[in-house]
Parts: sequence; C-alpha cells; structure tokens
Amino acid sequence: MKRIILAATATAALAAAITADARTARPVAAPPPASAAQMVTLRQAAMDMSAAVAGGIKGAVERGAPLKSQGFAARGLAKWAGSLTAAFAAATPGVPSRAKPEVWSDAAGFAARAATFKVAADQLSAAIAADDRPAFDSATAAVSASCKGCHDAYQLPAPAGG
Ligand code: HEC
Repeated sequence: MKRIILAATATAALAAAITADARTARPVAAPPPASAAQMVTLRQAAMDMSAAVAGGIKGAVERGAPLKSQGFAARGLAKWAGSLTAAFAAATPGVPSRAKPEVWSDAAGFAARAATFKVAADQLSAAIAADDRPAFDSATAAVSASCKGCHDAYQLPAPAGG
C-alpha cells in the first residue's frame, strides 16, 4: 500500500515536472514592437490619467477624504513621474502630437523637467504617508507647477477650437 502511494506520488511529481518543462519550453511569441501611433497614444493616455489622478487626489482631500486614502493614487503618480521620459524615448515623426521637437533636441532639459515632477510626486507621497496636511498642500502645488513648467517648454499649444 505504502509502495503504491509512493509510486503514485512519484508519478504525479514526474507529470508535474513534465508539464512544467513543456510550459517553459513552449515558444513564446515576442510582442510586436509598438508603432509610433501607439507610442503617442500611450504617452497621451498616461498624461490624461495623471491629470485625473492628480486632480482626483486634490479634490478628494478638499472634500474631506483622509489623506491616507490617497496613498495608492499618489504612489502611482510617482511611478509614472519616474518613468515619464521612457514614454518619449522614441521620436514619433509623422504622428499628430503636441510634443515639441525640443523634447528630443533638448532631451537633457526635458529629463530635468521630468525629474522635477518626480521630486514633487515623491513629496506628495511622503506627505500622505506622514498624514501631513501642510506638506500635502505644498506638494500638490509643486506637482501642478512641475506639470505646467514642462508644458510651457515642451508642449505645443492646443489647436484652436480643440
Ligand atoms: C517632463 C515634461 C512633462 C511633465 C512633467 C508633464 N507633462 Fe503633460 N505633456 C507633456 C508633453 C510633451 C505633452 C504632449 C504629448 C503629445 O501630444 O504627444 C503632454 C501632454 C499632456 C496632456 C494632453 C494629453 C493628450 O491627450 O493629448 C495632459 C492632459 C497632460 N500632459 C497633463 C499633465 C499633468 C497633469 C502633469 C503633471 C501631473 C503633466 N502633464 C506633466 C510633457 C509633460
């Protein structure tokens, strides 16, 4: 009996090992490279969502939500701030966009603006974690200023009527 159980266990283990092998050996198709149009949509979508998140955090707190209820949103904003330049890594010629050519011709200046945003977003996260309302107020102002600072230098004005 004991032997049968042992044998069954060994068989099951072997089967599991084979399945795992088959799983890892299965050829995995590489995802297709992002098109220039997708890259533009990706960065614009991230910008739209960061506007919604930053506005949402401020609005919620002004309506009386506890600071700590905004930690998840603020940490997400800080993650985006820390990786923003990657969304502009590839030049996207020929695709309608409001990114000025200076994003690429002055990449260091653009990265510095992104770094300012990251510092402000980290301050926002820290203020929320510390449940510190005055620090929260100055961090939300710093985040807004960092958005505007970059847009003034690197974003084309909205087309008339749009
Ligand atoms: C380091 C520079 C930089 C920072 C920081 C930055 N942006 Fe942007 N943002 C841009 C650029 C460049 C564009 C234009 C992108 C395009 O059209 O391809 C843009 C576009 C946008 C758009 C329009 C997106 C669309 O759908 O066309 C919104 C909304 C926006 N940003 C909001 C924000 C907010 C809110 C913040 C701060 C929380 C922020 N941005 C921080 C550079 C920045």
